[in-house]
Amino acid sequence: MNVDEIRETFIRFYTERGHVRIPSASLVPHGDPTLLFTGAGMVPFKPYFMGLAEPPAPRMCTVQKCFRTTDIDEVGDYSHLTLFEMLGNFSVGDYFKEEAIGWAWELLTEGFKLPKDKLWISIFLTDDEAHDIWRGIGVPEERINRYPEENNYWFSGDVGPCGPNSEIFVDRGSRPDTCNECRDGKCKPNGEPDCGRFLEVWNLVFMTLYQAEDGSRTELPRKNIDTGSGLERMACILQGKDSIYETDVF
Ligand code: GLY
Repeated sequence: MNVDEIRETFIRFYTERGHVRIPSASLVPHGDPTLLFTGAGMVPFKPYFMGLAEPPAPRMCTVQKCFRTTDIDEVGDYSHLTLFEMLGNFSVGDYFKEEAIGWAWELLTEGFKLPKDKLWISIFLTDDEAHDIWRGIGVPEERINRYPEENNYWFSGDVGPCGPNSEIFVDRGSRPDTCNECRDGKCKPNGEPDCGRFLEVWNLVFMTLYQAEDGSRTELPRKNIDTGSGLERMACILQGKDSIYETDVF
C-alpha cells in the first residue's frame, strides 16, 4: 500500500464506524498558550476532552500533520521525524477501551493484513482492564508487557489531558548479530538501546485525567479515547522497508 492508500483505508475504516473526518489543523495551535506546535493528533481536540467546548461529533478521525520536538535527539534514526502525519481516531465521552483496542486490532490484522503473531502490546503497569481486553482478543500473555509511567502514560505537554496508554509494536525480526537480548531470546519492546526489532505503530491513549501545572491530576468530565498512528511508520511496515526514509513518503 502506498501512503495514499494507507490514509484512505484508515479513514474509511473509522468513518464506517461512525467517525466524522475532521481536516488536519494548523501546525501552530490556536488559543493554546501551553503548546508551541501541534505535536499530536489530539491537540486540536483538547477543549473537547477538557469539557470546554462541544465536539462536532463524539467520534472523530483525522490525518493530522504534526511537528514534534520532544524526541528531536532521535530524529535521523529509522523511525523518528520532526514533521509527520498522524492517523488518529478519537472518542469524546463515547466509546472507550474495548472498542479502541478491538478496532485497532481489526484494522491492523484485517485491513492492513499484518500477521497477528508479529504484534506485541505494551500496557500501563496496573491496567488490568486493557490487559484483559488484549487477552480476550487472543494476544498471548508473553506478547503483552507492562511498563511504568515513563513508557505507558501519555501527556500532551506539561499541562493538559493525559492518561495511561497501550501501544502496539510490530516485530520486524530478531537481530542476534547486533542485540544481546535478541541473541538470548529476551528482547522486548522499549529495550535500551533500541535494536530496531520492534517498531511502535500505534498508541492508544485512555484519556481520563487532566494534569495541572503543579503536577496534580484530576478527572476529566468524560472518559475519552485518543489514538495516534504514525503514517510513515505504517508505510515502513506495509512496504517492507527498514526505515521510514525508504517509503514512498520521501
Ligand atoms: N496522542 C497520542 C500520540 O500522539 O501518540
